[in-house]
Amino acid sequence: MNVRRRDILYGSGAWASGLGARGRGVALAPAAQVGRPAPVSTKKIRLAVVGGGFGTQFSFHEHPNCTVAAVADLREDRRRALSQTFRCDNVYPSLEKLLEAERGLDAIAIFTGAPDHYRHVEASMRRGLHVYCAVPAVFTLEEAAKLKALKENTGLRYMMGETSYYRPGCIHARTLLASGALGEIFYSELNYYHDRGDLDKLVADKTSRFYEPGGARSWRWGLPPLHYPTHCLGFIVGVTGERIRTVSALGWGTSHPWLDENAYGNRFWNESALMQTDKGHMVRCNVFWLVGEDGERAQWYGSNGTLYMANNGLHGDLFRARNQGAKPVKYPDYLNDPMIPPPMRHASGHGGSYVFLSAEFINALIEDREPAVDVYKALAMTVPGIVGHESARKGGERLTVPAFDRV
Ligand SMILES: NC(=O)c1ccc[n+]([C@@H]2O[C@H](COP(=O)([O-])OP(=O)(O)OC[C@H]3O[C@@H](n4cnc5c(N)ncnc54)[C@H](O)[C@@H]3O)[C@@H](O)[C@H]2O)c1
Repeated sequence: MNVRRRDILYGSGAWASGLGARGRGVALAPAAQVGRPAPVSTKKIRLAVVGGGFGTQFSFHEHPNCTVAAVADLREDRRRALSQTFRCDNVYPSLEKLLEAERGLDAIAIFTGAPDHYRHVEASMRRGLHVYCAVPAVFTLEEAAKLKALKENTGLRYMMGETSYYRPGCIHARTLLASGALGEIFYSELNYYHDRGDLDKLVADKTSRFYEPGGARSWRWGLPPLHYPTHCLGFIVGVTGERIRTVSALGWGTSHPWLDENAYGNRFWNESALMQTDKGHMVRCNVFWLVGEDGERAQWYGSNGTLYMANNGLHGDLFRARNQGAKPVKYPDYLNDPMIPPPMRHASGHGGSYVFLSAEFINALIEDREPAVDVYKALAMTVPGIVGHESARKGGERLTVPAFDRV
């Protein structure tokens, strides 16, 4: 483990050639750009930001190579929030109006509701814009095929904003894998727990995010857990680069309006999936909406050692080499990583990932390269969940996950 991080990622080219991962059969891990300086350029990306809830958490405007040139939301309060956050007074009442009227944009960042992502990405790419989109990438296999074709036919850049990918534990797992300290990751446990809270209040509180301001139920109402798998799968696809090839999932639900009446026909609060990768490795992926726990975390079991992300006060971040005791992990100073331009080096949500994601999208456009979570990784983090939910609906039938990689 006595290897400097910059050496691991860039020193010898070992990462790029695959020699850095000592475990037999381990797929190439993505460099993720961590440790690599942000580009120096006078170029400015003219970016639109759409969706003024989660979208206001991001800091594209602090990147020296980005100007937020337009913002849009259907809601007045959200338009105001976007305008204030990004210091932009070029405000539109919808994405559609923005795409119709605005000229001279290079790219767009989309933070609309999850079931609309593909539709909004398609409309934006058809207007020639590079796209950053919040998770998940798509909702159906048909959309997955269309997204891949759209990206390949237009040649535009696409990035999915998976926050797990830049959590310190995930960055560190990539580093340990490259150094050989983990060996071959043969099994991983991936958890995304987001409790829905008091079940009576869930129905009664019309001010919650499960309702639109007018009182209609929002897209979150009854969402199938495994249709939101990326916070889990980011921890394996984003570490080893592997693809999930089969999935068998089970679900659990009760009688409650959230499950009895929803737009998805979903009957499950919680879904648990056992998956197998293209390297024959095992992955256990849980997405729970009703649980006395919370957070997004993983533990990676390798032939040389195991890395545990901190678990809700039960224990901190730990590494345990075979035949040794568990040792606390001290992460490097990721907040001051050179890939993040200095004005963006501040705390941000989901484990500090927002500044990494904002920086990486703009850095990639300036450097004219694919972003770290490109369309193929985005689909590899999303599609196994869609198939997994189908498996759960079929009582756990083991299903094949279609591949959406570059051929
Ligand atoms: N950790 C993470 O990665 C993370 C965390 C939270 C949310 N998200 C994702 O971010 C997205 C946004 O989350 P949110 O909580 O803000 O959701 P939300 O439903 O509260 O907000 C979506 C916003 O999009 C706007 N919108 C919808 N259609 C539009 C259109 N045609 N034109 C302009 N605006 C439109 C809505 O008015 C709304 O303000 C979701 O897809 C969610 O999955 C990801």
